[in-house]
Amino acid sequence: MNTVGTKTIETERLVLRRYRVDDAEDMYGNWTSDPEVTKFLSWPTHTSVDFTRSLLTKWVSFYEDGKTYNWGITIKGNDHVIGNIAVVERDERTCSYEIGYCLGKKFWGQGYMPEALRAVIRYLFDGESDLMRVYATHDLRNPNSGRVMQKAGMRFDGILRGSKKNNQGLHDTAYYSVLRSDLVTPEQYEKLFAEIKPGFFEREYVKQIPEEWVASEQMLRLQEFDAERYQKVFPANVTFGYYTGDFEELKEAIGKVIPGWVPLFSEETLVYCGFVDGKIASFCMIEDFGEHIVNGEKWKIGGPGCVGTLPEYRGRGIGLTMVSKVTQILRDELYDYGYIHYTFEWKWYEKLGYKTVLRWNCRGVIKE
Ligand SMILES: CC(C)(COP(=O)(O)OP(=O)(O)OC[C@H]1O[C@@H](n2cnc3c(N)ncnc32)[C@H](O)[C@@H]1OP(=O)(O)O)[C@@H](O)C(=O)NCCC(=O)NCCS
Repeated sequence: MNTVGTKTIETERLVLRRYRVDDAEDMYGNWTSDPEVTKFLSWPTHTSVDFTRSLLTKWVSFYEDGKTYNWGITIKGNDHVIGNIAVVERDERTCSYEIGYCLGKKFWGQGYMPEALRAVIRYLFDGESDLMRVYATHDLRNPNSGRVMQKAGMRFDGILRGSKKNNQGLHDTAYYSVLRSDLVTPEQYEKLFAEIKPGFFEREYVKQIPEEWVASEQMLRLQEFDAERYQKVFPANVTFGYYTGDFEELKEAIGKVIPGWVPLFSEETLVYCGFVDGKIASFCMIEDFGEHIVNGEKWKIGGPGCVGTLPEYRGRGIGLTMVSKVTQILRDELYDYGYIHYTFEWKWYEKLGYKTVLRWNCRGVIKE
């Protein structure tokens, strides 16, 4: 494989750099001597700084081979190492790397490790054109490490029981990974948006949106959708289902939310609703955005559109529950992604796991 070796990586708050032998004191003080840090790791807690120093001497010499990936993590503006991130296993046949990491206890809970992990994953895929998979594992009894992997954008693969050994003995191991095909660039999302909504920025109504209004396009990988993430208990008079009633009644309800949406609905539109006492409280259309090739993968995309709750029924969880149910329907119908087009309510959809993939205003996509 065409390795690039350990070069300095900068993130928003961190600098990941090569070790030096004089990092021994910081390394020993911050993590190698702390049994709480090493509890779920495979190497024993160090009992002297000399031991850490001799290990570091070896680590530093390994850089010479040009294929070692081993960074000391520092906070920008302060050169002291606070933790470690490294490639700990490599399988040349499948072009796959395992990443391991640890962080001094004082620095836990501040999002440093997801930031470092995300950057290392990007660095490896950018640097090694034949790398196909990066993965990481954790002892099932150490779920915080799994949170790091999730926050870094890794996907849960599964659990292999009793498959690894650490300072607590044999353990059930959770596996997370990123495949090269998972990495989608902003340019690829922009291309997808243009396929889903051709000529969008040429439309008159888009040109008239005030420039300072920034809208989002959001997506959710349906395999990862968790219908239990947003759960509300409703009285029996609140129900959900496809709309099969009178079209005039539907138009009247839409008109009470955003009159400009009424012409977007026809008698044929597939509409899903939340009802209170059988009356429309919340509505949306279920849209099929078709199949698209992104990063070599075929994605079948659909989503709720024109989502509205009548003013008198807002703030009761009806709207979000309806969107959650539509998302589940798409998943059951084997769509790959849920797509929310043109929203200013991105925070609201985030409650279900939708993530912003593009932001735009009337002039076009905002490059960030
Ligand atoms: C956006 C809209 C659909 C919300 O409907 P709703 O039925 O009032 O929303 P819900 O009651 O289901 O909201 C559920 C939760 O989201 C929260 N929430 C509501 N609006 C929110 C927002 N804009 N951002 C973040 N959270 C929000 C609620 O507080 C509630 O939280 P909780 O259950 O944790 O207490 C409704 O305000 C509406 O019709 N607006 C006009 C049309 C529109 O803008 N549609 C979106 C087009 S993309």
